[in-house]
Amino acid sequence: CGIVGYVGGRSALDVVLAGLRRLEYRGYDSAGVAVLADGGLAAAKKVGKLANLEKELADRPLPSGSTGIGHTRWATHGGPTDANAHPHLDNAGRVAVVHNGIIENFAALRAELAERGHALGSETDTEVVSHLLSESFSSCGDLAEAMRQVCRRLEGAFTLVAVHADDPDVVVGARRNSPLVVGIGAGESFLASDVAAFIAHTREAVELGQDQVVELRREGVTVTDFEGAPAEVRAYHVDWDASAAEKGGYDYFMLKEIAEQPKAVADTLLGRIDAAGSLTLDEVRIPDSVLREVDKVVIVACGTAFHAGLIAKYAIEHWTRIPCETELASEFRYRDPILDQRTLVIAISQSGETMDTLMALRHAREQGAKVLAICNTNGSTIPRESDAVLYTHAGPEVAVASTKAFLTQLVACYLVALYLGQVRGTKWGDEVGSVIRELSEIATQVEEVLETMEPVRELARSLAGKNTVLFLGRHVGYPVALEGALKLKELAYMHAEGFAAGELKHGPIALIEKDLPVVVVVPSPRGRSVLHDKIVSNIQEIRARGARTIVIAERGDQAVRPYADHLIEIPATPVLLQPLVATVPLQVFACELATARGNEVDQPRNLAKSVTVE
Ligand code: G6P
Repeated sequence: CGIVGYVGGRSALDVVLAGLRRLEYRGYDSAGVAVLADGGLAAAKKVGKLANLEKELADRPLPSGSTGIGHTRWATHGGPTDANAHPHLDNAGRVAVVHNGIIENFAALRAELAERGHALGSETDTEVVSHLLSESFSSCGDLAEAMRQVCRRLEGAFTLVAVHADDPDVVVGARRNSPLVVGIGAGESFLASDVAAFIAHTREAVELGQDQVVELRREGVTVTDFEGAPAEVRAYHVDWDASAAEKGGYDYFMLKEIAEQPKAVADTLLGRIDAAGSLTLDEVRIPDSVLREVDKVVIVACGTAFHAGLIAKYAIEHWTRIPCETELASEFRYRDPILDQRTLVIAISQSGETMDTLMALRHAREQGAKVLAICNTNGSTIPRESDAVLYTHAGPEVAVASTKAFLTQLVACYLVALYLGQVRGTKWGDEVGSVIRELSEIATQVEEVLETMEPVRELARSLAGKNTVLFLGRHVGYPVALEGALKLKELAYMHAEGFAAGELKHGPIALIEKDLPVVVVVPSPRGRSVLHDKIVSNIQEIRARGARTIVIAERGDQAVRPYADHLIEIPATPVLLQPLVATVPLQVFACELATARGNEVDQPRNLAKSVTVE
């Protein structure tokens, strides 16, 4: 989500709306603003993109004031509705609060407030804060102190910004976890989730630390910890331009999104595996009794999401022993597929709006199948029309070529596979226990891969003049090869193809010629080592015919070394989880090649982020 706060000499509404526009990439499920004016507080909020709010404000203007806050939301808990949009007010309509994150003990606090006579109207945890703040302010008369008192009672990760009609020249912010940055201007102060929101007005910024509260006034800011002791803060000068600021300093959204993958993966796992290693999927609303009877799983998806589905097939069949097929959504309904009440259809879609996938799921439901959506966009059409949904928490993905959404789709697929096995009482050996343990480590391993990408970028630049790149993989490495090739087509506009390495000898080997770059995804030498040995032979075969081999292999894999012209090492993972680390170098590779060829990275030619036609 994106947060903005302002106090100064201008129209707060204008500053806040302009800030929200620059933060819209952080979420566009709903948006809202509150301004202090004429001794009172006026607020407006609207579901959908910021444009909807702007239209609402044009129809019903707010009074003009010079203190205000705003929010643009990416729904995680509580669907995208007007009521759930921020800001949230107290009963008297004197306090307004916007919030990022999750307040874990909100149910207890809510019950406590209800007992004291507060009427809470939304499903969000944020509203609890506005009521608590209102109570604390009534007794202490100081908004910053009230905020500190409230923060001491909150559990979880949160960033809060609030205003109170009885303290009209003050904006107060509190930070735990999600970022909050202060902008210092001349006679005005700003507060935002990132500097993009205020860079048009000031470049002098102060980053709030963990568990700090800031009081914003025209004359300056005061920062304390949650106890009220003065806090040390880091002041800095922002030398990015406005568009780089929006991208967090990265040149493209895609680079930013690649870098966000460890967090996206961790967020998608958050709260879903307990200490005992058992899985909870709170958003699965298909009864376990129905899941126990499932005799076939069919996965439908398009593009990158389809590749996640191909990988899921390996995991689902291996861990649950339920037959599973993965099909392109656009092909699915036209071949009259065999479906019934015992079929579980999984529809994977980042946007939740892809028409091909939507049509496939409608067809499946008409045949009586149950549909589970794996989706990144809360409240979008695909989850709305499904029987159940598991949200990936990648946050908004702006670049057309999918990266972080793909990794979180994989995580979600693994969780669904493990969950199916769990409810059906599948007899697992040690393997699944270790997979669950390693899943919780995987974000760190993705991070490790990201730290070693410079040679991959260098290699990509050296191949900018090539026309063709081939990708080979086996087992789950095969869909990874397909994804690597797709990324290169999308971004570098190069002829790129992915093959199952075993199929090489049945045709594609005829394509190999001197100096042709071939990327090979090598399975771990441990576990299913027969696969490993076979792919090592494949590498030798293509190299003997002149190919330039680019080998992605587990760190310490000695057997591939003699045949790798370029070696990209990735951390060791369980076999089925390898795509989570093996895909990352291919994303970086494609992105760098596109840049080297002078292509537009975030919006490649002819492509759309969400394709709403069949
Ligand atoms: C479009 C995008 C692809 C994406 C596909 C499926 O073609 O360009 O990057 O993989 O749609 O999108 P979805 O939102 O359903 O995951």
